[in-house]
Amino acid sequence: MDNLVNVLYIIAFAMFIYGLMGLTGPKTAVRGNQIAAVGMFIAVVATLIAVRDTSQWVLIVAGLVIGIALGVPPARFTKMTAMPQLVAAFNGVGGGTVALIAWAEFLDTDGFSAFNHGESPTVHIIVGSLFAAIIGSISFWGSVIAFAKLQELLSGAPITLGRAQQPVNLLLLIGAVAAAVVIGLGAGDSGVSQWWMVGLLVAAGVLGLMVVLPIGGADMPVVISLLNALTGLSAAAAGLALNNTAMIVAGMIVGASGTILTNLMAKAMNRSIPAIVAGGFGGGGVAAAAGDGEAKTAKATSAADAAIQMAYANQVIVVPGYGMAVAQAQHAVKEMAALLEAKGVEVKYAIHPVAGRMPGHMNVLLAEAEVSYDAMKEMDDINGEFSRTDVALVIGANDVTNPAARDDAGSPIYGMPVLNVDQAKSVIVLKRSMNSGFAGIDNPLFYADTTSMLFGDAKKSVGAVTEELKAL
Ligand code: TAP
Repeated sequence: MDNLVNVLYIIAFAMFIYGLMGLTGPKTAVRGNQIAAVGMFIAVVATLIAVRDTSQWVLIVAGLVIGIALGVPPARFTKMTAMPQLVAAFNGVGGGTVALIAWAEFLDTDGFSAFNHGESPTVHIIVGSLFAAIIGSISFWGSVIAFAKLQELLSGAPITLGRAQQPVNLLLLIGAVAAAVVIGLGAGDSGVSQWWMVGLLVAAGVLGLMVVLPIGGADMPVVISLLNALTGLSAAAAGLALNNTAMIVAGMIVGASGTILTNLMAKAMNRSIPAIVAGGFGGGGVAAAAGDGEAKTAKATSAADAAIQMAYANQVIVVPGYGMAVAQAQHAVKEMAALLEAKGVEVKYAIHPVAGRMPGHMNVLLAEAEVSYDAMKEMDDINGEFSRTDVALVIGANDVTNPAARDDAGSPIYGMPVLNVDQAKSVIVLKRSMNSGFAGIDNPLFYADTTSMLFGDAKKSVGAVTEELKAL
């Protein structure tokens, strides 16, 4: 039986890794996801086989049924624009589960004094459980705040304790680690009071809240992938404690890929991870949005004027952002681009790594509308081209085009690389109002002499421009 379980686990791991490879490209992503899902199904079956005491199957199956009932509807019906919140929620429950498993192990073994029903606890079991409890709890409560910010239940602006923030965070960390040390030292004898474990979970949980609350809008992508990595690591630690190879391997895969993604995102945002976690970046936006008191005016334009400008351009660069996702304007954009191309205009798409609300968000939408991959240019490849471009057409993008990130050392997003849209000969911005984007800060691009605003829902505006182009 043990051999069969191990063989099934190895098949499951191979499928996880193969599935993950599929996720590296939009064309293979769906298949990759399906392969990983089958791998997970095999791992669950193997776990059921590994459970000798069949009376426990009822509990496991009940857990599966509840999980499927709660997990499938949001996964199927959540709109693309709300995917990041869903990812934060799913990530959070992963971390929370790990913390609960560690707590259950603690209770089941009388504070690790009777591990595995009489066997003495080994260091890796205790350390694995306690690490899982701390990191799992941080990850759960951090994800709750990330969810609330992305769902706009909480303001995207930083919520901080000011100067007290870092000392409080340090105290909470020391408290959680001290409780872990007390539990670890008490293990093997008669165990310690379970209040130590409760204290550990509370201290780590409050730390999770405290670390994510001060993180401002634009840095959220890095935080989500960091929480994802932490959940993976905590699951691997729990796997060590439970002696479950599937959990160790799956946890390490999530931990490793989450860490790589965190590094890539931090690099794309020109941020250091310790600086983000220490708090305060990407914030203060609201104050900045209040402005310097100067009355600034933006010029409005019409669909007809926008169509004429683009029809006589040599090159148009489309800059999509979150608003294109909200308006679901990607098909309309493709239709408009085809008309421009028929008139001899070269159309390219500039993709910022954090445009939208999840990595690859714009690529997915444009690929859905069958925009060719060759026309989608990454930021570093296209930034040099704006200065020789006649029209930059910004469709529902805001923060990723904000020149203050490049030019204004006082801006909360200073240092974040942006698309050099302001360098184009002329800029047309499609959005509904002068409202700010996710980071909650004003965008000087909208007031530039070369910029004109086409107000309205992006899909309707693009449709109106398309009609005008047809009439030209
Ligand atoms: P944002 O800066 O959020 O701006 C989007 C703009 O779209 C808004 O200013 C909004 O203005 C406009 N909009 C909304 N609905 C619209 C509609 N139906 N039609 C036309 N316009 C509409 O978006 P961005 O430039 O893509 O930047 C992304 C931001 O999200 C960054 O701050 C990034 O750090 C953050 N973020 C990214 C991720 C990832 S991984 N991509 C994850 C979390 C957070 P109006 O209200 O005036 O229309």
